[in-house]
Amino acid sequence: MPATAQASPPSRAVVAVTRRLPAEAMSRLRGVELRLWDSDDPIPRKKLLTMVEGASGLLCLLTERIDADVFRAAGPSLRVVSNMAVGYDNIDVTEATRRGVLVTNTPGVLTETTADLTWALILAACRRVGEAIDFLRADRWTTWRPLELAGVDVHGAVLGVVGAGRIGQAVARRAAGFDMEVIYHSRTRKPGFERETAAKFPDGRGPSFRPRLADLLTEADIVTLHVPLTPETRHLIGDRELGLMKPTAVLVNTSRGPVVDEKALAEALARGRILAAGLDVYEREPLPPDSPLRRLPNVVLLPHVGSATVRTRTRMALLAVDNLLAALEGRRPPAPVNPEVLRC
Ligand code: DGY
Repeated sequence: MPATAQASPPSRAVVAVTRRLPAEAMSRLRGVELRLWDSDDPIPRKKLLTMVEGASGLLCLLTERIDADVFRAAGPSLRVVSNMAVGYDNIDVTEATRRGVLVTNTPGVLTETTADLTWALILAACRRVGEAIDFLRADRWTTWRPLELAGVDVHGAVLGVVGAGRIGQAVARRAAGFDMEVIYHSRTRKPGFERETAAKFPDGRGPSFRPRLADLLTEADIVTLHVPLTPETRHLIGDRELGLMKPTAVLVNTSRGPVVDEKALAEALARGRILAAGLDVYEREPLPPDSPLRRLPNVVLLPHVGSATVRTRTRMALLAVDNLLAALEGRRPPAPVNPEVLRC
């Protein structure tokens, strides 16, 4: 039975929630002593530090940096930090674990929605949809010209998936409808995924072979990024990697902004070293007004909306609440990030 069905919220547990959530999720918090930042905008840092004092649970969003200062401000009562996101690079998990605080996230519920949005970017970047919309609205459509706004084909192209977790695999599955060849790069080989999608390592040589990212970058027509942000993946795609891509290639990122060296990407796009990019995430969010990316016609820019459907955002909020309540009631939450804390 799902955690929510049997949950009886721990009475008087003090819970800090850093944003107004969908009503269904808020109503599940009825039994706790709630400290809510009742707004659609992020909580100011100072307020966050005050709000967590003496709390047992914290439900936060990816816009909040949960670091040693927050854990210190909360004090020893804090038992769980529940992130309403699958990515948790905003949380110092090492510090949480050191203090015996459980961290949870929201995997699974947003997989297909984020894969859909990735495809929106793939199609828009390859077929210059953003430029075409601007072109029409600016009244520049005066006639039909053979190569005006001509992009590159998606069908029949080679799709390079970097990171074959849930979302990477969901993106790859959709490629079947476009008759694409799929190649992938991941820390471990995924035989089930290979069988399901005919996805290949760029140069598979048995189960122990670790494919080189360079091979994927050289061969793919479209490169799509689905790795979590960690010290190892920060600037995974930089000047050297962009230089390996085809001049006709397209880069799409719906994972985390810092996985790409944005300065190097802007230069590569401006100089035509790659054809185009589609981005939903940035090194700094919101994307600063002076970002060179804003001035480039060959990049489609979205404001971190990968999981943004009403149903999926509601499911994320519900899962975040379920994680929080389960941890406070001493049950195993549906999605622990550092389950080793539970064994202590
Ligand atoms: C996440 O969950 O990590 C996304 O970036 C927001 O949906």
